[in-house]
Amino acid sequence: MNYNQILKEGENFLKKNKIKNSYLDTELILSKVTNKKREEILLNTNFKLKDKDIIKFKNYLFRRHHKEPMAYILGYKHFWKHKFLTNKSVLIPRPDTELIVEEAIKYLPIDKSKKILDVGTGSGCIVVSLIKERPKCVATAIDISRKAINVAKTNAKLHQLANKINFINIDIDKYKSYNYDLIISNPPYINSIELNRLDDDIKLHEPKIALSGGFDGFRNIKKVIVVSKKLLKINGKLIIEIGHKQKNQSVKILNENGFYINKISKDLSGKERCITSTKL
Ligand SMILES: C[S@@+](CC[C@H](N)C(=O)[O-])C[C@H]1O[C@@H](n2cnc3c(N)ncnc32)[C@H](O)[C@@H]1O
Repeated sequence: MNYNQILKEGENFLKKNKIKNSYLDTELILSKVTNKKREEILLNTNFKLKDKDIIKFKNYLFRRHHKEPMAYILGYKHFWKHKFLTNKSVLIPRPDTELIVEEAIKYLPIDKSKKILDVGTGSGCIVVSLIKERPKCVATAIDISRKAINVAKTNAKLHQLANKINFINIDIDKYKSYNYDLIISNPPYINSIELNRLDDDIKLHEPKIALSGGFDGFRNIKKVIVVSKKLLKINGKLIIEIGHKQKNQSVKILNENGFYINKISKDLSGKERCITSTKL
C-alpha cells in the first residue's frame, strides 16, 4: 500500500466516523508513522509503506476514531513559541491560555529577577514559556497531579530550564511559601453541567481534575484567589484564566479579597477570559 492509498483509506475511515479534519489528521498520523514531514509525504505519494508501519498507522487511526485528541496521539502540542510534550495526564495547552503569557511579560522587566508561582501547571506550558521570555526570573510550579508534574518537568528539561523552575506536587490548599511578585493560573473552571456537554474529544480523554471546577465552576478560581492573597507581596499581580461566563463573579471574588482589577483580556473570539489584578 502506498502513501496515496493509505491517506485515502484513512481519511474515509475518519470521515465515516464523523471526525472533523479527517484529511489533516490522517496526514499527521502518516507523518508520525513514517517520521517524514508532511511536505515529503505529499511529494512522494507513490512510496510504499512497510508492513509494520501499516499496523502502527491503523492503531493511531483507531485511537483518533475513538475521539482521542491529536495532541495525545502525536505526543505534542505547540503553545506560544514552543513545542510541549503532551499525554493523557495533562490538559492540552490551548491558544486562549497564551493570554496569560502575553499579559505576564508586561509586568516582568527583562533585566529584573521576579519571583513567580504557577498554580496548576499541567504540562508546564505557561511557566516554561514565561521563563523562556524572562530568564532572570525564578519560578515555582505546583500541581496536585504527580503525573502532570512529571510531564512539566520533562518539558522544562526539553527547553533547558530544568534548573530554573522548581516543580512541586502539592495541593494549592497546602502550599505555604510567600512573597511572590506574580502568580499565574489557569485553574479547572468548568461547572458540572457544562462538563457533561463537552465534546467527546475533551470529555472522554482529558483529565477530569484539569477540567472540573465543581458544581458552579468556581471552586478552584476561589481557591487560587484566596491563597494568592496570602502568597503575593503587596502590589504583586495575579493573572488568572476564567471561563467566558465567569467574569462578574470572578471580579466580585477578587474585590472581596482585596484585589484591584487592572485588565480583563479577551480571547480570539472576543470573550473575556483572563483577569489581571493587583493585591492591594
Ligand atoms: C486547566 S489545567 C491547566 C494546565 C496548564 N496550566 C495549562 O494552562 O495548560 C489545571 C491544572 O490544575 C491542576 N489542579 C487541579 N486542582 C488543583 C489543586 N487543588 N492544587 C493544585 N493543582 C490543581 C490540575 O491537575 C491541572 O493540571
